[in-house]
Amino acid sequence: MQGLHIVGVSHAYGSTPVLDNISLTVPAGELVCLLGPSGCGKTTLLRIAAGLERLQAGSVTIDETVVADPKSQLPPEDRRIGYMFQDFALFPHLSVLDNVTFGLFRRNKAAARERAMEMLGQVGMVRHADKHPHMLSGGQQQRVALARALAPEPRVVLLDEPFSGLDTDMRARIREETLSVLKQTNVATLMVTHDPEEAMFMADRIKVMGENGRVLQSGRPADIYYKPANEYVARLFGPMNMIDGIVDQGELKSSFGVMAAKDAADGDAVRVLIRPEGLILSNGDGRDGGTPVDILSAHLLGDSSMVRFQVREGVNRGEEFQVRIPSAFDLTEKGQIWARVDPRHVFQYPQE
Ligand SMILES: Nc1ncnc2c1ncn2[C@@H]1O[C@H](COP(=O)(O)OP(=O)(O)OP(=O)(O)O)[C@@H](O)[C@H]1O
Ligand SMILES: [Mg+2]
Repeated sequence: MQGLHIVGVSHAYGSTPVLDNISLTVPAGELVCLLGPSGCGKTTLLRIAAGLERLQAGSVTIDETVVADPKSQLPPEDRRIGYMFQDFALFPHLSVLDNVTFGLFRRNKAAARERAMEMLGQVGMVRHADKHPHMLSGGQQQRVALARALAPEPRVVLLDEPFSGLDTDMRARIREETLSVLKQTNVATLMVTHDPEEAMFMADRIKVMGENGRVLQSGRPADIYYKPANEYVARLFGPMNMIDGIVDQGELKSSFGVMAAKDAADGDAVRVLIRPEGLILSNGDGRDGGTPVDILSAHLLGDSSMVRFQVREGVNRGEEFQVRIPSAFDLTEKGQIWARVDPRHVFQYPQE
């Protein structure tokens, strides 16, 4: 298959292991995100793929060519890889045009210039071609860096936190533009981020890495969000409501009624996690299976509100939860409030 194939890559710096048997495939035209905490080895993996770090175990294949295995390794410039690293440093002494032309040393001058201008056109930077990097905003520099990475028509693009230097507004805009440029060029893109929302937005598939340099889960964004394989993956997307309990006759008693315990035996200690968007508030007679609650606080976040509430009655009286609702929450209008769960946002794991 056309694309990037990493098979069984393990890596250690001295005696410290960093990557443990990582395998992944990025088909041409797709974008795979590596999502993981600081220090888990994301940059190391990209550097190995690019040939900037010597591969120790496993192999890297691009299209049908093995570019690195323990016996032989192609130098970076022969791998047809474009990369953009955390700081996307442009050459400060070169103009925008010369920065983009830099990687085109295999073409004659006129052809290189033509290709560079074409790429600057794709990222909307033609009119800045003669400027130097210090005369550009962060977002503009980022676009030039992308043009530079794509100009030599790489088969694989590696992006290491490419948007980390940009503010929220610019970040959203530039990542959308970047995605559309990448999709037009049919390259295989492997991108690193530690922002789960960014991974959800950009990726065809996500690989979640843990602190131990292993892959915890791979899947499409919807799988990672709706079917997180373990508590760590579930918690990536922000704060969670938590109910700990012991399974009794295949069930778990909770503030929101009896829940079926999946894949657990009687007496097992399980933990149920509920996303803040997985609780539903209503005011009415509660006949749809709700639990009566008292509101403790409500904070408008912009497009949604975070509301804390407390269970009003029963053995779990006083238990607190938080719920995200997609609008402003007006305390004065409501009367008795009821809470129930949306099963799509409820996850159950063994207690560690
Ligand atoms: N050249 C090196 N020599 C020794 N140790 C290194 C070297 N490069 C990285 N490390 C260590 O290897 C581990 C993984 O580093 P790496 O840069 O791959 O992490 P990362 O996942 O990219 O983190 P971040 O999200 O902070 O960028 C870290 O503990 C780091 O300190
Ligand atoms: Mg890194």
